[in-house]
Amino acid sequence: MGYPHPSHPLERPLLSRHFGDAGARSFDGWVKRGGYQGLKKALGMTRAQVIEEVTNSGLRGRGGAGFPTGLKWSFMPREVTRPHYLVCNADESEPGTFKDREIIRWTPHQLLEGCVVAAHAIGAERIYIYIRGEFTTEYRILKTAVAEAYHGGVLGANVFGSGQRIDVVVHRGAGAYICGEETAMMNSLEGRRGNPRIKPPFPAQAGLWACPTTVNNVETLAAAAHIVREGAAWHKALCRGNPRSTGTKLFSVCGHVQRPGNYEVVMGTPMKDLIFEMCGGMPMGRRLKAVIPGGSSVPIMNAAEVEDCLLDYEGIVARGSMLGSGGMIVMDDSTDLVYQVMRLARFYAHESCAQCTQCREGTAWTVRILERILAGKGRREDLDLLLDLADNMTGKTICVLSDSCAAPVVSAIRKFPEEFEAYLSRSRAPVTVAV
Ligand SMILES: Cc1cc2nc3c(=O)[nH]c(=O)nc-3n(C[C@H](O)[C@H](O)[C@H](O)COP(=O)(O)O)c2cc1C
Repeated sequence: MGYPHPSHPLERPLLSRHFGDAGARSFDGWVKRGGYQGLKKALGMTRAQVIEEVTNSGLRGRGGAGFPTGLKWSFMPREVTRPHYLVCNADESEPGTFKDREIIRWTPHQLLEGCVVAAHAIGAERIYIYIRGEFTTEYRILKTAVAEAYHGGVLGANVFGSGQRIDVVVHRGAGAYICGEETAMMNSLEGRRGNPRIKPPFPAQAGLWACPTTVNNVETLAAAAHIVREGAAWHKALCRGNPRSTGTKLFSVCGHVQRPGNYEVVMGTPMKDLIFEMCGGMPMGRRLKAVIPGGSSVPIMNAAEVEDCLLDYEGIVARGSMLGSGGMIVMDDSTDLVYQVMRLARFYAHESCAQCTQCREGTAWTVRILERILAGKGRREDLDLLLDLADNMTGKTICVLSDSCAAPVVSAIRKFPEEFEAYLSRSRAPVTVAV
C-alpha cells in the first residue's frame, strides 16, 4: 500500500495537523481550531497536577536526549523564592533536523500554548524562546504571534484572568550550533560566550542568572498542551506496544528518498514504513545503504539494522543507534561513507567551542585523518588511530559535542570497513577534498 503525499499513517496527526493550513497561524485561527483549550484547563489545575499529568503521559524530550519531561519539571523547586525561568530551545541546528522550524512556521500558537502550560507547571513568570538566528521567517512569525498572544490575554500580567503573570522574550541566536546545548544557551542568553557549563549544578538548581530554569525543545513543549487537553491516558495509548516511548514523533527525512519532508508517526512505527512507504523509497531504483536516524550525532545504521527497526527510543537503540532529534539522513548505495563522515566531522570541528581539549583537538584530528584517507594517503593504522581518538572524545568532555563527532565515525568504521579498505588499499580512486 502506498501513502499519498504529504501524509502520514495517523488518522489525525497531532503536531502537524495544521501544517500547510495558513489560517491556523493567527491567534483567532488557532482558537477556532480548538487552540488554547489545553492552557485554560492547565490554569485550572495546580502546578503539581499538571506535572503529574505530563509525567503519566510518558512524554520524553524531543530535543535529543529523550529525558522524561514531567520528571524534569518536577526538579524545579516547589517554593518560588527566586525567579523561575523556562527556556524554549528553538535553535535547531543539528544537521538533518528541520521539524521545530515547521511547528513555528505553521503553528506558532501551538508552541506558545505549550510554553505557557510549562511555565505554569514550573512556576515561571518569564519564558525565553531562543530561536536560531538564520530562521528569519520563523522569527517574524513568532514575534507576530507573541504580540497577538499579549493582545489575546494569553501572555502578560493576568494570563486568561488567572491573576498569573507570564511574559515571553524571543531571543535570536547568532549561528552557533553549540548554543543549542542547554547550558551554552543560558550563557548566550546572559550575554556571555556560548560555552557549555559544567554540571552540577543542574539548570533546575542554578540555571539562567543562577535561578531555577527548565530547558525544553519546541516539539516537547508543543506536545504538552495537547496532553493536558486530552489527558495522560490518551497520550500513553499513542504507541505500538512499548509503554516507555509514547506519543507521536516528527521525523525530518532527507537525503536519498523520493519525498523528503517532515512526517509525524506514532512511536513504534516500523522505520521501513517511513522510508519506503511514506517517503517513497530511494530514487531511480537504488538500494538503501545507510541511515543516520537521529540527527547527525548518532551512530550510522546499515540496511540490515533498518530492516526490522521500530521508530521509538528503545527500538532504535536495539538496532545500534539512537532516536536523537529525529532528523533522518537516508543514504543509498551511491554514497561514499568515508566522504560523508568526513563532512560531518568537519561540521563538528568547526562548531566545537574549543573549551575541552578532547573536543578541540579530537574533532580537528578526526577531520585530518579522514581527509588523508580520502586523498589516498591513508595508512593501515589510521583506523585504529581514529578509534582511539574517538574513545578519548567520548564521555570525557563538558558537553557531548565531541561524542557526537565520534559516533558516526566509529559506527562507519565498524559497520562499513570495506569503504575505508577501498581507500587504504588504493583500489578506490582518491577524492580531492575541497577545503
Ligand atoms: C551540541 C548540542 C547541540 C544541541 N542542540 C539542540 C537543539 O538545537 N535543539 C534542542 O532542542 N536541543 C538541543 N540539544 C539538547 C539540549 O541540550 C537539551 O537537552 C534539550 O533542549 C532539552 O529539551 P528536551 O528535554 O525537551 O528534549 C543540543 C545538545 C548538544 C550537546
